[in-house]
Amino acid sequence: DSANTEEATGTLTVATEPAFPPFEFQDENGELAGFDIDLMNAIGETAGLEVQFESLPFDGIIPALQAGTVDAAISGMTITEERLQTVDFSRPYVKAGLAIAVQADNTEVATLDDLQDKRIAVQIGTTGAETAAEIPGAELSTFDSAPLALQELANGNVDAVINDAPVTLDAIASGNIDGLKVVGELLTTEFYGIALPKGSPNVEVINNALMTMMEDGTYAEIYQKWFGE
Ligand code: ARG
Repeated sequence: DSANTEEATGTLTVATEPAFPPFEFQDENGELAGFDIDLMNAIGETAGLEVQFESLPFDGIIPALQAGTVDAAISGMTITEERLQTVDFSRPYVKAGLAIAVQADNTEVATLDDLQDKRIAVQIGTTGAETAAEIPGAELSTFDSAPLALQELANGNVDAVINDAPVTLDAIASGNIDGLKVVGELLTTEFYGIALPKGSPNVEVINNALMTMMEDGTYAEIYQKWFGE
């Protein structure tokens, strides 16, 4: 379990599931891009660590942290009580929340209650999947990525998707997916954190770098690049 005891210098292997734009995705050249990627690279620069990304399925990230095969993960991952049982998190770096998406001409669904007995697509292992699992009578379809879940909705095979609002809104605004809309209020308030193996010395290293970047304008610059008007 060398990742846990490694010095806070050298290379940091960082897991991500790169189909979650604008947080992480592969650009036209197949290079990793997105808010989380820029943020993690800047953390590396600030802390004097080399960041090496490793793409993993989202539901494989926490097991990889527990096994110590990666040193950290940045993947639009919500800090939850349940995950805190098995991994540590950095301080929160983004505020997000879940939203319901439906087909643009849908007039039936506006709230979570309206999703009872409906067909819902979600990404496996996510807070969206957990929220959907609590809806009485709902029939869940699980997908390996959020874009695949949204495509299933665009194809008319499900009634709704529950996914992180910024990602669903980006998919609609960018034209990556057609004929969908977001309805109602955000279902949750969630905070993303960088996940690390329990007891990792890098928690403090990353928190210090984040704090420096929030004070010196680096964080604001990256935020503006991806979310500014
Ligand atoms: N925020 C949600 C969660 O933590 C979804 C994250 C999905 N991230 C990804 N890169 N696919 O469960």
